[in-house]
Amino acid sequence: MSLDDVLTWVSAGSREELLARRVDFDRLPAHVAVIMDGNGRWAAERHLPRVEGHRAGIDAVRDVVETSARLGFDVLTLYAFSVENWKRPAAEVSVLMELLKRYLRVELRTLLSNNIRLRVLGHYEELPPDVRRELEVAQARTDGNHGMVFNIALNYGGRAEIVDAARRAIDAGLPSSELDERQFSEWLYTAGQPDPDLLIRTSGEMRVSNFLLWQIAYSEIWVTETLWPDFRARHLLEAILDYQKRDRRYGGIAQPAIAGH
Ligand code: FPP
Repeated sequence: MSLDDVLTWVSAGSREELLARRVDFDRLPAHVAVIMDGNGRWAAERHLPRVEGHRAGIDAVRDVVETSARLGFDVLTLYAFSVENWKRPAAEVSVLMELLKRYLRVELRTLLSNNIRLRVLGHYEELPPDVRRELEVAQARTDGNHGMVFNIALNYGGRAEIVDAARRAIDAGLPSSELDERQFSEWLYTAGQPDPDLLIRTSGEMRVSNFLLWQIAYSEIWVTETLWPDFRARHLLEAILDYQKRDRRYGGIAQPAIAGH
């Protein structure tokens, strides 16, 4: 993706255009992961039931998925439902599942037209049968796409993922002498995908909430006070600009800038 491409879909003179002009399109994060938070607070600020925050959050999902694919990320991962979220009232869980189903049905066309491949991270088999069916259809229909991978983390827990990976490696009879960090990552739900370069969390909370615990070892973290339902392309562009200012050292020392690089 280049600035010229982006200028074809941002409105002239908009904040998005100003931000896009500052982005270095040769140094985009390959994988962006997002902890979508603040739906309940968004609703409370408007004296609405919590579920209205989730409903409004779908507009943010739509915008971020399409923008990410257009920008050319390899992978976008959204944390939609954690293993801990079953503790919420049954009515809220049921609305979240309905919203997910409706999103998949309504947005399938957009996923296809943007060449997006849908994947689910998490304990899929414990989801309600109608949600699983919708996910299966969307995954099968988008399977031939080779653009951005869109991971929805659903019934997902980072520790559970690590335990599952260890179990799978043991069940496959992998000798412990062959197990190293690179090998281990191939047993995770994200096998074959790059680790997130950038982890975004909305609503100001400074927590990782059991999300991609293995994969975020060296991710850059960007937290915004913006509540998820208000999050849009401009916030994503702000996060990218901040990410591009970071000096990623992976535990080493800062590299001197090399002329021409
Ligand atoms: C956190 O807000 C948000 C969630 C637990 C659910 C996020 C889900 C969606 C936006 C809808 C479905 C997603 C997809 C990918 C179609 P919160 O309720 O914890 O907010 P609070 O901290 O303000 O209470």
